Amino acid sequence: MTENNIKEIDESVQGTATMIEQNAGTRKLYLESYGCQMNFSDSEIVASILADEGYATTKDSEEADLILLNTCAIRDNAEQRIRNRLVHLKTVKEKSKKPVIGVLGCMAERLKKNLLEEEKLVDLVVGPDAYRSLPSLIEEVEGGQKAVNVLLSREETYADVSPVRLDKNGITAFISIMRGCDNMCSFCVVPFTRGRERSRDPKSIVKEAEELFQMGYREVTLLGQNVDSYRWNVNSKGEILDSNCETVNFAELLEKVALVNPDLRVRFSTSHPKDMTDDVLRMIAKYKNICDYIHLPVQSGSSEILKKMNRGYSREWYLDRIEAIKSIIPGCAISTDIITGFCGETDDQHNETVSLMEQVEFDFAYMFAYSERPKTLAERKYEDDVPEQLKKERLKEVIELQREHSLKSHQKFVGNTYEILIEGVSKKSKEQYFGRTSQNTVVVFDKENTKKGTYVKVKITDCTAATLFGKVVS
Ligand code: SAH
Ligand code: SF4
Ligand code: F3S
Repeated sequence: MTENNIKEIDESVQGTATMIEQNAGTRKLYLESYGCQMNFSDSEIVASILADEGYATTKDSEEADLILLNTCAIRDNAEQRIRNRLVHLKTVKEKSKKPVIGVLGCMAERLKKNLLEEEKLVDLVVGPDAYRSLPSLIEEVEGGQKAVNVLLSREETYADVSPVRLDKNGITAFISIMRGCDNMCSFCVVPFTRGRERSRDPKSIVKEAEELFQMGYREVTLLGQNVDSYRWNVNSKGEILDSNCETVNFAELLEKVALVNPDLRVRFSTSHPKDMTDDVLRMIAKYKNICDYIHLPVQSGSSEILKKMNRGYSREWYLDRIEAIKSIIPGCAISTDIITGFCGETDDQHNETVSLMEQVEFDFAYMFAYSERPKTLAERKYEDDVPEQLKKERLKEVIELQREHSLKSHQKFVGNTYEILIEGVSKKSKEQYFGRTSQNTVVVFDKENTKKGTYVKVKITDCTAATLFGKVVS
């Protein structure tokens, strides 16, 4: 992975794959991941399950015995890209020594057997909760059958599987703290592909963070579709399940992970505006190693559209959460997700998104044109009636505005000194390192006598809309 893990991965939600490699074992696994950080984290679970079966990962699809694509279904273009990739891999399969080809993840879950039957592109289809069955399914395929397991689970968290770290930088890692989503935002396919929300045992999360720290990692990102609804030993009505067992909410989990070591940075994604509490904000303010950065997807600035999206908050509520962040954690960076051209979105409603952006001035944003997804509430209830051209024009407008805001946000860093965790050598020059500020901004600077995996003070001297440039100060 390169300079900005998180940004790169989110770009891959739009379809860029990241290929991963790890050595050990005799049979060769080629594993490609698409989509969100959750999928990347799942690929590490898959690599671990298959390492126990003697599989080593390879970068070369042509030498693979097993090719797996961990897929995303969030927007139609993400799926199209994966389909093209599968068509290409089918030709590789016909030419070479016939590897087993499998589809994992959200597209596998969405299309189920259709991927085997209608399209005949693959041998194996496995949904996000069924990775433990991969070894037996692969055996079935080797016995000449096609295999599929897309059962969703209410319990599976893979808490006991120790992920094989595939990122290679050895400094930053993901930890899944929950799976699934119960929110049913009307545009979103995730509740259908990932099933019901469930939280992972906090002890196994803390243990994983401790092990990572001992291995030299210095940053963990806690992952969930809605981290603010993390809860252990409490049901959705707030009732305690086992009086002998500890109850833990997200703010408390953050504290537990922050206490692993003050030199371990803690990040998390994704927060949900309807659930983000002041307790969480106060916890971020209390611990220096919990990073001052919150990704808080707004989706739209119009309360009517938010209602149709079933997001559970209004424009005013969202702006109140922004105010809370700004007053409890001064200097905290805030990023967001925006969808343009949702069903029935008028010019005025779109302009409300623009005016919300102007009011908040996000440090960063991921922006998408609405893509209707089969089975979702929006598909069943509303017409996808904003013309594609108009969706794109609105998208272009918000992207351009965000570029101005990102540049403005970066300009505020110039002249000041920040603590940077060094993540690796810069892509552009071997003589330079890159790292990130607590606010998640990438900084590039001359190496001097510094070392990867340590914290250094860097004075910011210059910037673009994407990167800060600086100089190490002793
Ligand atoms: N759980 C996170 C979002 C996960 S999906 C949250 O609730 O914020 C990441 C982003 O993809 C979403 O925030 C949304 O902006 C975008 N997205 C999801 N479904 C989409 C669709 N059908 N069309 C366009 N963008 C979509
Ligand atoms: Fe999708 Fe909404 Fe769940 Fe996010 S919170 S994953 S947008 S349903
Ligand atoms: Fe895509 Fe599934 Fe993530 S649909 S964004 S890979 S949860």
